[in-house]
Amino acid sequence: MQDITRIQSPRIIRIGGGVASETGEVLQQLGLSKPLIVTDTNLIKIGHVKTLTDSLEASNIHAHIFDGVIEDPTDTCVDDGLKALNAGDFDCIIGFGGGSPMDTAKAISFMAVNAGHVRDYKAPKQIDECGLPIILIPTTGGTGSELTRWCVITDTKQPEKYNLSGLACVATAALIDWTFTTTKPARITADTAVDSLTHAIEAYVSKRAHPYTDAFALSAMPLIADNVRTAYTDPQNGPAREALMLAASQAGMAFSNASVALVHGMSRPIGAHFHVAHGLSNAMLLPAVTAFSVDAAPARYAQVARVMKLATDNDTDVVACAKLVAGLKQMNADLEVPSPTKLGHAKDDKMFALMASQALASGSPQNNPRVPTAEQIVELYHELW
Ligand SMILES: NC(=O)c1ccc[n+]([C@@H]2O[C@H](COP(=O)([O-])OP(=O)(O)OC[C@H]3O[C@@H](n4cnc5c(N)ncnc54)[C@H](O)[C@@H]3O)[C@@H](O)[C@H]2O)c1
Ligand SMILES: [Fe+2]
Repeated sequence: MQDITRIQSPRIIRIGGGVASETGEVLQQLGLSKPLIVTDTNLIKIGHVKTLTDSLEASNIHAHIFDGVIEDPTDTCVDDGLKALNAGDFDCIIGFGGGSPMDTAKAISFMAVNAGHVRDYKAPKQIDECGLPIILIPTTGGTGSELTRWCVITDTKQPEKYNLSGLACVATAALIDWTFTTTKPARITADTAVDSLTHAIEAYVSKRAHPYTDAFALSAMPLIADNVRTAYTDPQNGPAREALMLAASQAGMAFSNASVALVHGMSRPIGAHFHVAHGLSNAMLLPAVTAFSVDAAPARYAQVARVMKLATDNDTDVVACAKLVAGLKQMNADLEVPSPTKLGHAKDDKMFALMASQALASGSPQNNPRVPTAEQIVELYHELW
């Protein structure tokens, strides 16, 4: 555990059912009145964007909308958003949606004041030159991007998803309103919840964990374990949705400052090369990577098992770790997580070698309790495929 931890978080955080209706008030508090909303067409179709713009209109704020965000947003999405930003007179950017619109909003904001291409700013570089204030309103409750200092963009020149990080990726305000999430279909519900769970577990076992981040991680894990199956089968269940949204933000706060680890390192290449949803590729990896890692931090993983109610205080750490791996496998079965093979992706050793080098280059595996070699990462890809 580190002695010193360095926390970055938004200035304003509001949490609760219906709180998005306070967006106009938050903008006024910040002296802002000319927002560009960055979102995707699906959220317009569902009607969530209208809910937001209606509430802004009630505060006499007329927003413009950029709806060109795609899932796993690309550098060209960012370029298109920059064009929309430069075509108008805006004083802030509202990222409205899942991680994809929120991350695009972040990248539009900082690329408006940083020269060159977004890939020039890949982590570990820190982007501290901030653009227009960023207001984030999550609608998936998975990534926690609203509270993180991270942004993930997919390159269109070569298949790679990279992390961007720094003060310029931290929102000025986050409004966390679970009521949007009741429209999530079952698959997105499961995938985004497992993304949050992975953030919490990885932050807790990370070499960069700290008591400050542990508190968020330990709170998030049981909320997700207790509620994900209910939300998966009963989308309108308010208490389950509310618990999962809170957990997503807490897990975001935990991993933003303690980092993710091997699951995320290996997950991004699956997303970049096979276009598997981020949370789904995390879910595919979580049991195998946990089994690979438990011996290097048995007390930590045993505590994960206990807070998720998969083990008791009477279980030894070794028994609790085994129960954790079994419980994560059972969760995947209950949430109907397919294997990459089942999705039609064939095993490919050359591709696995490239993915292993991309995973290691991201820096995330180095925070894992057990740091793998490239060969061990390839073996893990074989195992889960
Ligand atoms: N910045 C970070 O800290 C961070 C952390 C983890 C992941 N990410 C990134 O975030 C992206 C994934 O974000 P995501 O998982 O939130 O999904 P997403 O934003 O890609 O959205 C997935 C789909 O869900 C739909 N959707 C969103 N809200 C909905 C709702 N309320 N009802 C119905 N449908 C809804 C969207 O329209 C879209 O079709 C990836 O690029 C991932 O790498 C970022
Ligand atoms: Fe994630």
